[in-house]
Amino acid sequence: MRTPILAGNWKMHKTIAEAADFAAQLPAEDPAPGVEKVICAPFTALAFLAEKLRDTPYRLGAQNMHHEEQGAYTGEISPLMLKELGVQYVIIGHSERRQYFNETDDAVNRKVKAALAHGLKPIVCVGESLAEREEGRTEEIVRRQTEAVLEGITETEAKEIVIAYEPVWAIGTGRSSTAEDANQTIGQIRRVIAGKVGETAAQSIRIQYGGSVKPDNIASFMAYPDIDGALVGGASLTADSYLSLVQGATAVGR
Ligand code: 13P
Repeated sequence: MRTPILAGNWKMHKTIAEAADFAAQLPAEDPAPGVEKVICAPFTALAFLAEKLRDTPYRLGAQNMHHEEQGAYTGEISPLMLKELGVQYVIIGHSERRQYFNETDDAVNRKVKAALAHGLKPIVCVGESLAEREEGRTEEIVRRQTEAVLEGITETEAKEIVIAYEPVWAIGTGRSSTAEDANQTIGQIRRVIAGKVGETAAQSIRIQYGGSVKPDNIASFMAYPDIDGALVGGASLTADSYLSLVQGATAVGR
């Protein structure tokens, strides 16, 4: 039985003051027991949120990190630094990082290994672009990306990984994938995982959908048992909407 996981990805939004305002609106009582609730904030807000969210039902995530523990990498943040803050999750290989910061499959794999080595749970993003989808290459692209994520990873390590299937054309566009299509691709991802690290890991790894998920469509995704939650950008930015999403991630029958 996989625990649903709803993660907000704030991207490059929210000053510390804005993060404080958001945190102040979170109820002390767990809004959705049985759902893992994660907030992936910008680096600058992490220290503040780590204090604020301590002993609450909410877990803290970062949005990127370097794969080395330390070194001459100006402007970068290491897994040790995140761990020290009390960060538990880290998004790796988001399509915006692949697209704007030239992150390759190989770099993503190195970061995944570094996160696991430091006890951080990676939320690793895979997904095809619009052109790739129109060329009928969705399966090929997510296979390549998923295999690269898992290169050199043991079955035990793999169980700690969360995969987010985020079709690039659905991100921030208001145009989500249909739940049926997302479920189909997520099923393919699970088969790729099984082939690469074994069936047990494939059944344990949580796979989220991401791309224009909103409070009013989350239930349609959660209705599919292979979809274990969502990675949400825009709709995670207000506390009201975030809370509706975490409640929506408690799908009937789970
Ligand atoms: P939106 O929810 O804004 O489409 O963003 C999705 C995303 O990229 C989450 O990582």
